[in-house]
Amino acid sequence: MNTKTSDEMFRESIENKEHFWAEQAKEIHWFEFPKNILSNDANDYPQWFCDGKLNMSYLCIDYHIEMGHGNQIAVIYDSPVTGKVEKYTFFQLKEEVSKLAGGLKSLGLSKGDTAVIYMPMIPQTLFAMLACARIGVIHNVVFGGFAPHELVVRIDDCKPKVMITATAGVEIAKRIPYLPLVEKAIELAIDRVPNIIVYNRNLVENKHEFFEGTIDYQELVSQSEPADYVLVESTHPLYLLYTSGTTGKPKGVQRDTGGHAVALKFSMKYHYGIEPGETFWAASDFGWAVGHSYMVYGPLINRNTTIVFEGKPVMTPDAGTFWRVISDHEVNAMFTAPTAIRAIKKEDPDGQLVKKYDLSSLKKQFLAGERCDVATLDWFSVHIRVPAIDHWWQTESGSPMLGLLTHFENYQIKRASAGKPIPGYNTKIFDENGYELGPHHEGFLVIKLPLAPGALMGLYNDFSRFQSSYLSQFPGYYFSGDGAIQDEDGYIFITGRVDDVINVAGHRLSTSEMEEVVASNPSVAECAVVGIEDALKGQIPLALVILKAGVNKDQNEIEKEIVAMVRDKIGAVASLKDVLVVNRLPKTRSGKILRKLIRNMIDGKEFQMPSTIDDESIVTELQEKFNTLRR
Ligand code: COA
Ligand code: AMP
Repeated sequence: MNTKTSDEMFRESIENKEHFWAEQAKEIHWFEFPKNILSNDANDYPQWFCDGKLNMSYLCIDYHIEMGHGNQIAVIYDSPVTGKVEKYTFFQLKEEVSKLAGGLKSLGLSKGDTAVIYMPMIPQTLFAMLACARIGVIHNVVFGGFAPHELVVRIDDCKPKVMITATAGVEIAKRIPYLPLVEKAIELAIDRVPNIIVYNRNLVENKHEFFEGTIDYQELVSQSEPADYVLVESTHPLYLLYTSGTTGKPKGVQRDTGGHAVALKFSMKYHYGIEPGETFWAASDFGWAVGHSYMVYGPLINRNTTIVFEGKPVMTPDAGTFWRVISDHEVNAMFTAPTAIRAIKKEDPDGQLVKKYDLSSLKKQFLAGERCDVATLDWFSVHIRVPAIDHWWQTESGSPMLGLLTHFENYQIKRASAGKPIPGYNTKIFDENGYELGPHHEGFLVIKLPLAPGALMGLYNDFSRFQSSYLSQFPGYYFSGDGAIQDEDGYIFITGRVDDVINVAGHRLSTSEMEEVVASNPSVAECAVVGIEDALKGQIPLALVILKAGVNKDQNEIEKEIVAMVRDKIGAVASLKDVLVVNRLPKTRSGKILRKLIRNMIDGKEFQMPSTIDDESIVTELQEKFNTLRR
């Protein structure tokens, strides 16, 4: 019996960190157990387990087979948009992954090379990630909703030796062809991608979309010898995942192998409280950190069956689809973003569709990715009747930093709070001068270094950006970019981003990146993009533009052009639908646009006229414009 409490476990992880994480490291299989638990890297930044050796694909597949679980279902693919359900045991997973790894080897890839994976929600995406990990190739999965320009940025930064893609994705009833997007990205990228592997989904006749020189995924796999796993150092990068920052250029978060494996095993057991052999479903996308950690590596390390769901919470075919999947596959714990529950609640306010399914397998529901409103939690507790547990993390951490250790049965949910600090994350709330704030004062959420194992090792090839983005604001601490309040019991309430990052339907996007696109419209002299509140998606972007003198084009035309440009450059997922042409933007005397003021005005929140504003009449003028938008 475990007699520890979660508070004791947290204290131990901070006060005796090396011992604590050395013990957790024993929970996974190492080919060489690390002697050096915590040290500093060449940039003097903390690193975990540097001299350990392991392989992630081995941990996720071969280890379980060796332990006699080869016949357990490892992956269930459930695709309401194509009508397919497929199941793969660990034996079959090994076959798929090792043959694809063999195919990659035959193309000349080896440990340390990089691969871009641009694929929809099909099991082959998971195979591709594990195949890379098997031979030490560093993968970068790119979300399928991103436009070619986003692919180009990633190709030029990580210089892949291979791109693995598929013929198409399916969005509800719409086929999204990938190959024209890939072809365009390849044309625009500075660096040539030597190999393009295409998985043909055979959804419809689409031969005309193939361009010259692509390699057929199925042929490659059928002709290849299975590849064995290679041992990598604990600090060998497992993957890069680009995420939005406060500039136009996404940041290449670099994840290690050993620390990440230990953190995921820890979180599956203690945070999600799920036993090996059970079924865990994260309804996310492979392109996000949740997809990496909790659709692929976390559940598979923990020997859970994982579900690859190709659909939406609504319209595929209805708002009962989540409950159907839980019932059909006897899901024991689920993870999704609050926006998905809001979408279901909107379609099925009285929970009529819920009643159609047997949800008795479900023990816990986890929510993260954005703030969860109390009305959504209420709907959930009335209709689903299992604990809904909010938790907070970022692409950068790769696993929860705030949450509740549900392994300990006496965990207490506090509504609207994202939980308490997770072991290894020594969280503080600071004022702008770096003084720690007491309970009930809103400030910046920071974490004392070292971060727990598995958090980012840095940004790919850019230590100085890593420093300036996260480490220089409060020396000795990681700056999360979020605001928060703590209560007297240690529960933390996230108040939102304090920078130019917004969260649209659980998707993290940069308003600066959108501003770059908007500003490139020839009619635009100046612009600001802000995230405003939205009942379904949490936030949506709004662009405010000032036109160049002498532009006499129809304003509706310009607005449409801007919407199309953002869709074309960033992707449909940016969801920029509203553009307002204004005469002036509120600024400080030094010329800084007051984005927070704009946000508060449009959200109808109280705001104070800053003393630094150069002309108060601008604010009145803007308010009038916003009223037209609201109507
Ligand atoms: N490939 C191609 N296009 C994609 C895409 C993908 N993988 N994902 C989204 N898009 C497109 C959509 O088709 C849509 O295009 P449209 O403007 O032509 O309709 C656009 O991007 C916006 O999509 P989305 O943000 O999904 O909004 P939606 O209105 O279609 O659906 C929700 C709203 C709430 C149902 C949906 O956003 C959702 O399920 N969110 C949960 C998100 C989530 O799980 N996040 C992961 C964090 S845990
Ligand atoms: P991503 O890197 O895409 O996971 O986005 C991370 C950001 O999402 C955080 O910095 C927060 O702003 C937001 N976020 C994630 N989880 C939560 C949560 N539980 N409550 C509030 N905001 C959250």
